[in-house]
Amino acid sequence: MNSSQNGTLSVEKINADEKSAIAAINSAKNVEELKQVKIEYIGDKSPLAKANQALGSLDPQQRAEFGKIIGAAKNQVNQVFAQKSQALESEKDAQVLLTERVDVTLPNRQPLPGGLHPLTLLTNEISDLFLGLGYEVKEGPELESEWLNFDALNIPVDHPARTMQDTFFIEPRESKLVLRTHTSPVQIRTMLEQTPPIYVICPGKVYRADELDATHTPVFHQVEGLVIDENITMADLKGTLDYFAKSIFGEEVKTRLRPSYFPFTEPSAEVDFFFNGRWIEWGGCGMVNEKVLTACGIDPKKYSGFAFGMGLERTLMVKYGIEDMHDIVEGDVRFTQYFGVGKR
Ligand code: DAH
Repeated sequence: MNSSQNGTLSVEKINADEKSAIAAINSAKNVEELKQVKIEYIGDKSPLAKANQALGSLDPQQRAEFGKIIGAAKNQVNQVFAQKSQALESEKDAQVLLTERVDVTLPNRQPLPGGLHPLTLLTNEISDLFLGLGYEVKEGPELESEWLNFDALNIPVDHPARTMQDTFFIEPRESKLVLRTHTSPVQIRTMLEQTPPIYVICPGKVYRADELDATHTPVFHQVEGLVIDENITMADLKGTLDYFAKSIFGEEVKTRLRPSYFPFTEPSAEVDFFFNGRWIEWGGCGMVNEKVLTACGIDPKKYSGFAFGMGLERTLMVKYGIEDMHDIVEGDVRFTQYFGVGKR
């Protein structure tokens, strides 16, 4: 019997298995493929492993002989495998370095620090200014009763401001609620709650059924002033408005009053200020109507007072030369950066 051949085992077959195992290993193109090759050519079910298992049925001499041959073949295969494995691993690492490369020289992205909205800044500035004069800051609800928004201010039922075109009414209509159309109802709330002397400033959001355009917005802001005390005259109103205007727009600014009409003040006036060579309408004002004082339980023989109300958007636009309402509403950083957004 030829020692190179025994039943299932033959030297040729073992050499051929070794060759095909090495060929398979060498043809693996990446770590994953090599894993597959390992299972097929090195694992328990590989031809060489099976040959090894077949040794058991041989007589001792042949077992030793074939054992050596198979051992050498397996060694060879393992060695080639180890080399290939190392080569593919380092190839993979090099690939990772390339594809997952981070450019540390790129500037990092830092979120811009936030800032207060310019309207909030202006509200704070006005509040501080009046706090300095001994006023209190008072706020009221934006969802307001029709009675406080209109009736208590002596605004008649057929007044044009009370139509759907101007006012957002709340359903059901029996609720008698509106989104307040001005900050003047806070005057009433204050007079009902407090006894004179009253010195308050009421900044806040108000609503009117307007389209957003360069000069209008359906949600805007007003600031209301109210003073009730003994011997308050229109001269006090004028002096207060002058001080207000100078503090906001600059020392050289003048104000003027033009006769006007508001149901809740008598007499009433429009206040304008002179800025950059022209007169600009600012808001409404007047001496609090005796009817309003009486409705709020204040004796008009003892007390008198003045009130004023102006739009904050308009004030902001004039102060900073803003030409389009959209800039105030939209929050574009190119605009808000000027007011502190993004400053560290
Ligand atoms: N509430 C008025 C408006 O929104 C503005 C106004 C006018 C307020 C005269 C006042 C005032 O306090 O006295 O159009």
